[in-house]
Amino acid sequence: MEIQPLYINGEWRTTASFIPVTNKYSGEVIARVAVASRKEVEEAVTAAERAFRENTLTPWQRYQILSKASELLLARREELGMIIAREAGKALKDALGEVTRAANTCRVSAEEATRICGEMVPIGSAGAENRFAYTIRVPVGVVCAITPFNFPLNLVVHKVAPAIAAGNTVVLKPASATPLSSLSLCRILEEAGLPPGHLNVLVGSGDDVGEMLLRDPRVAHFSFTGSPAVGRRIAERAGLRRVTLELGSNSATIVHSDADLVKAARACGRMAFVNAGQVCISVQRILVQQDVAEPFCQLLVEEAEKLVVGDPTDLKTDVGPMISEDAARRAEQWVREAVAGGATVLTGGRREGNLFYPTVLTGVRPDMKVVCEEIFAPVVSVIPYENFEQALEMANDSPYGLQAGVFTRSLDLAMLAARKLEVGGVIINDTSVYRADEMPYGGVKGSGMGREGPKYAIQEMTETRVVVITL
Ligand code: SIN
Repeated sequence: MEIQPLYINGEWRTTASFIPVTNKYSGEVIARVAVASRKEVEEAVTAAERAFRENTLTPWQRYQILSKASELLLARREELGMIIAREAGKALKDALGEVTRAANTCRVSAEEATRICGEMVPIGSAGAENRFAYTIRVPVGVVCAITPFNFPLNLVVHKVAPAIAAGNTVVLKPASATPLSSLSLCRILEEAGLPPGHLNVLVGSGDDVGEMLLRDPRVAHFSFTGSPAVGRRIAERAGLRRVTLELGSNSATIVHSDADLVKAARACGRMAFVNAGQVCISVQRILVQQDVAEPFCQLLVEEAEKLVVGDPTDLKTDVGPMISEDAARRAEQWVREAVAGGATVLTGGRREGNLFYPTVLTGVRPDMKVVCEEIFAPVVSVIPYENFEQALEMANDSPYGLQAGVFTRSLDLAMLAARKLEVGGVIINDTSVYRADEMPYGGVKGSGMGREGPKYAIQEMTETRVVVITL
């Protein structure tokens, strides 16, 4: 049995207790990972704080380390893809895509390290004669990254690489269900030349390790992706410290009557079910203009039924297992409740262990959980609307606001949607799931605050300092 130690101050350390990491398809235990106690949490923050104080890495050196890490990620693509497929249950073809994305996120972060800049400040007030002012951006200090299971590599890189690029140091707590990708990333960064203390990895529960990190005043910034309940708790406990929170959504994609229906159905049919729907921007609500709802549903069901469900390590598989049987049971329960309330299952609705088959629902009501809460499962509801303004209102009728998709051939309607949709990103002629790793990514309302994407994460993880020079 593979035993995986923790990484603190440049040392691989084992501890007194371990958690098992399972293959999410077979249930087999594939590794045991050391769990951090109070002692390791204390040492990790001390190491990160000292490394920050003594940090001498120049932007160019940070660029070199992150560029090298990007190359190593690509060189180990197959190995890392298999780790993700096994520990997260992600279909291997998507897991390989995640590794490529992670390498790209790392490379973009490297580039951003060399262009962190402030601005000239034109101070023209009375009394400001013979002075000029400019801003610089300075790193905040120790960043605590708390990462989810659904993208166990790329969402970790999205926090760790910009933090390092900005000159911060990091304490990382990956999801307990999927820590192996993070530990592999850590080995890669070590090999790429990241000095001791700059990245420390602690595995353990949110209630223990997470709480200890929240209580430690030496942590300057919390960057969290996960559930709204935990996000709210972090925001409350962080006090005046900075937070970046990415808390999910019940994203809408609008398919208007003038859209290319085949293209829309193909995209929705893939993106409602990719990673078994465990994507924060997953297509959960498809709002379709009522005149085209019937042909659209037919096309969507055809797409859903083409998907191969099963062993994620098989390259033919499109949809692997959910992260746990509990998660699949919850999805099944929500679908059952919807059906009891009058909804119709057009396809799917079936569970085998933690596999949940791609499910398309119609006849849903706005107050059903499958519509108004984040399901985080391969379940999509198709909801008809009369006119475009109504579709925008329906899309906005949500406690969340992460991203939305809009299929229309009308530039006017596309621009109206871009202005009116209450979300962090509007994707025209594609689904809510589109993400390029360099773009700003984050939400409004219950979806959180702050933005990721290396350039934007660096802004979150640096402070503005004004410098006034008196001549
Ligand atoms: C997420 O689930 O928030 C990440 C989506 C992505 O990076 O594609």
